[in-house]
Amino acid sequence: MEEGTELGEPYVQANREAWNNYASDYVDAGYKGWLENAPQWGIFQIPESEVGLLKDFQGGDVVELGCGTAYVSAWLARRNGNPVGIDNSPAQLTTAASFQKEFDLEFPLILGNAELLPFKDESFDFAISEYGASIWCDPYRWIPEVARVLRPGGQLVILENSIVLVLCQDWEQETVADEKLLQSQFGMHRFEDLADNSVEFHISHGEKIHLFRSCGFEIEELIELQPPEESDETRYAFVDLAWANKWPAEEAWIVRKK
Ligand SMILES: C[S@@+](CC[C@H](N)C(=O)[O-])C[C@H]1O[C@@H](n2cnc3c(N)ncnc32)[C@H](O)[C@@H]1O
Repeated sequence: MEEGTELGEPYVQANREAWNNYASDYVDAGYKGWLENAPQWGIFQIPESEVGLLKDFQGGDVVELGCGTAYVSAWLARRNGNPVGIDNSPAQLTTAASFQKEFDLEFPLILGNAELLPFKDESFDFAISEYGASIWCDPYRWIPEVARVLRPGGQLVILENSIVLVLCQDWEQETVADEKLLQSQFGMHRFEDLADNSVEFHISHGEKIHLFRSCGFEIEELIELQPPEESDETRYAFVDLAWANKWPAEEAWIVRKK
């Protein structure tokens, strides 16, 4: 595991502590991800054939932002990619490194903050974040950074909680998503979890579109994910299958640097 950049903002340290504590709960899911060759995405493990996040992926230099146990990077390495994974949690990267040994598939894992990427300009053809930087980093910091390190024509794919889900959540009680709006959309940005002091970031679609465009991205798709019919109930307390079949619980953005 290589050392990346400095920590940056105070919430980066708080999120590091939170993820070091959660890491042991994510080993089994990470192992399952490494075992699979066909990607399955997100809360409801929706097959890639139904989502299409990698439909344009043709290999090349890849960065995964908030790689965690790094199964997404493993999928991309098996599809002709040269991935580099960056993550803020030493404990998550220790799991990722143990899977690399077990599956005999090595690529660089960097301990660092995706808001301050330790890479030269225009180093990558493809960038991806599955619930990594996409929700744990401030979009006004990490999206300009990923724009900097992508080559012209490079694609960024992100998967995250949908905005409607974020607005229907009670962030203090952490109960299952409601059927009514509980948060204001105007000004939405930073969401603190008082139980573990972690901080997530979610901004509205209008803000996100403006940000992508101001960083030189062209928006190719906004995919709203629906669980397949045969889906099992989720292990996450904040949303259930019934809710996710009425409104998108997850959304993916595909954007390209001009
Ligand atoms: C839900 S996991 C997603 C990762 C991966 N898809 C997985 O499931 O293993 C979120 C990851 O984001 C990482 N993270 C949080 N803040 C970060 C930051 N500022 N820079 C890089 N990674 C960060 C956490 O350490 C954690 O490993």
